[in-house]
Amino acid sequence: MKNFNNFFTKILQQKSLTFALHFLIPLIITFFFIFIIIILISIHRKKKNFLINVQQKILQNYEDLKKQYQTLNEQYIKLKGAFITDKSIDNQLQREEIDFIFKLQQHLIDAFYIDIACRIIVEQIHKFLNVQKTIILLIDKNTNQLKIVAANGIDSQEIKNFILKSNESISGFVLTQNKPLLVENLSDENYLKSINKEDYLGGNFVSIPISLQNQIFGVLHICSKNTGQFFTKSEFLFLENLGKLIAIVFKNIFLYQELNENYLKTIAALASAIDARDPYTKYHSENVTRYSVAIAQEMKLPYKEIEIIKQAALLHDIGKIGIRDEVLLKMTKLNEQEYEQMKMHPLKAQQILESLSFLKNVSVLIRHHHERFDGKGYPDAISDKQIELGARIIAVADTFDAMTTDRPYRKALTLEEAISELKKAKNNQLDPEIVDYFIKVLETNPEILRKTND
Ligand SMILES: [Fe+2]
Repeated sequence: MKNFNNFFTKILQQKSLTFALHFLIPLIITFFFIFIIIILISIHRKKKNFLINVQQKILQNYEDLKKQYQTLNEQYIKLKGAFITDKSIDNQLQREEIDFIFKLQQHLIDAFYIDIACRIIVEQIHKFLNVQKTIILLIDKNTNQLKIVAANGIDSQEIKNFILKSNESISGFVLTQNKPLLVENLSDENYLKSINKEDYLGGNFVSIPISLQNQIFGVLHICSKNTGQFFTKSEFLFLENLGKLIAIVFKNIFLYQELNENYLKTIAALASAIDARDPYTKYHSENVTRYSVAIAQEMKLPYKEIEIIKQAALLHDIGKIGIRDEVLLKMTKLNEQEYEQMKMHPLKAQQILESLSFLKNVSVLIRHHHERFDGKGYPDAISDKQIELGARIIAVADTFDAMTTDRPYRKALTLEEAISELKKAKNNQLDPEIVDYFIKVLETNPEILRKTND
């Protein structure tokens, strides 16, 4: 039995060995290889994924870099546009800019008023730069507010109602900084986000302070070229210098106006001194001025025309300086010779005022304030529309004040009587249309009759 067991054990050992040799070891080796292959495949996949990730990252970086490059390239193109490299184009632009300055100065020679100057500047810049909007705002020194004085490309109603504080909005920002502003896209400018924007500003624009050293007059906005291009650095510098040039123009106009106003005050004092020579015509110039302005306003004449009529009405009898007291203050009817002397006063007025270029329009109205609608007046015996509108207005106002003022030889007429007389003078002495406007003024605004000497 023991032998059997040994024998059997040997067989088993032999079979195990055989089994191991024939089956187990190859199996283990196979599994080992399979395991290795799996690991290799796994490593390969990981490696592949890793490579894919790396590749994706590189691609992503490439895209980022591409975008950055595009942005840089765009900025470079803009910069290149700003610093024009072609010298001939640069010279051409400079020549055009110099020509523009000369032409602008020529246009501004006769601009005695700031709003006329602003209108000329706006129109010329608008045309020269071919833009969609050009706006000038000026500071009102009395209210410290900014008002649009002239604009092209925006609604006229918007101009009328537009008022800003001088430190408000983009205009206020430019004035406070006293530096020009170049905006390529308003919505992209972070540093302007906290500032209110005027409705007419958007997209790309240039804002220039109109200032000379520390004297600030206002701001000029030039918005969006019609070609769709941005403003170049060269144009920006040109506009910055133009802002200074406009400030010089404005300063001269203000000085000129100040000088004129002082002169006018002196003349007006003389006019009231003439009125004062005759107690019956005291305040006559003031009354005629008030009526004339009311008629002109009723006729809705432009502001500047009303200003000229106002000055002419105030000075209309300035020529009486040259009339002797015996004639001017005579209590009885003038004889023919005296009347001829009195008729000289419109011409004497023109002689006094003609040397003053800024009163040229005023002196013409004064010369003709005694012309009649039917042509029987003096000194030129012109008629109808040959007589300047302002002179026809002053004639109505002058006649009415004479009728409603006491004279040594008669009492003043009542309002009704004076209106009746005005109606009778239609078509012969006075312009019927202007008489109608004045009657309308008297009916709707009887307060106007309140005489200064009341
Ligand atoms: Fe007169």
